[in-house]
Amino acid sequence: MENNKADGVQGCGFSEGEFKPVSELSIPVTDMGFQLADMCYDVVHVRNGRFFRLDDHLDRWELSIAERRYDSLDYDRNCVEEILHGCVAQANLKDSMIYFLATRGSPSAAHKDLRTCRNRFMAWAIPYYGVVSEEELSTGCDIVVAQTIRIPPEAVDPTVKNFGRLDFVRALFEAYDRNALYAVLLDQDDNVTEGRGWNIFMLREGRLISPKRGVLEGITRRTVIELAECLNVEAELASIPVTDLTHADEVFLSSTAGGIMPVRSIDGVNIGDGSPGPVTRRLTEMYWGLHDDPDYSTPVRYEPAGTIKDHGLMTA
Ligand SMILES: Cc1ncc(COP(=O)(O)O)c(C=O)c1O
Repeated sequence: MENNKADGVQGCGFSEGEFKPVSELSIPVTDMGFQLADMCYDVVHVRNGRFFRLDDHLDRWELSIAERRYDSLDYDRNCVEEILHGCVAQANLKDSMIYFLATRGSPSAAHKDLRTCRNRFMAWAIPYYGVVSEEELSTGCDIVVAQTIRIPPEAVDPTVKNFGRLDFVRALFEAYDRNALYAVLLDQDDNVTEGRGWNIFMLREGRLISPKRGVLEGITRRTVIELAECLNVEAELASIPVTDLTHADEVFLSSTAGGIMPVRSIDGVNIGDGSPGPVTRRLTEMYWGLHDDPDYSTPVRYEPAGTIKDHGLMTA
């Protein structure tokens, strides 16, 4: 499949044992992934033909599917890894975002007994994109603090990456109503959590802090903390009262979709002098520098992929 664009979507998908155009991926309305948001997923990126921290994404994936009790998936870790390589190779992308997703599936017995579902798997590779624009990467983006609170971790475990995100949807419409594009959500105690697709960091009095609780344990967040150690900047996971965030010296977002993204203002008030701070800039350079490092990255196998069948990999 050469850079499929037949449907306007460049990329390559995989479901039911076959690589296919992204437009042919679908979920039946009877799948609990649709009806209950009973699903989990992960996203890894490829930069210059290399996956970044693929093993860490696969580790998080394995924890997610175990927590969700998806025990009838057809593909084990090795197979999933093979499929991810296959999607990027078939789409022939050098810079890509690769999604892989599991749903509960459709129940086959009365009372919609969830234990009768056969779990569904799909994956797709599309061209790389970031959550903020190129311009915002250099100027910083403007965010608002939403009134809508993040779904508490006691209700839905945010460390399982999932699309049950109506808290983010409501918060984003609050942002649009205030002429902003991004919203950060608080918890019930007015501590900062995260936004749709990103963790958040603040630098205050020389310390870099990202929220510890009620958030996805981002792979980019982990990378930032490791890099801060190299810079001799003290970095930790801790509670951030919202009042501290707005008085920070630097604030940035972190995500597989965009890396490290500076924040220019919060609720209309500039952070620092309103331009990306020196620690944010240095960490950003270091972050992208890691992408060629064999300790952090894996070359995509662009050779023609075989046919992936249930429980195994068959060469075509
Ligand atoms: C809710 C949420 N928080 C944080 C992140 C950042 O995680 P990562 O750095 O692993 O991409 C994401 C990524 O999509 C996310 O969806």
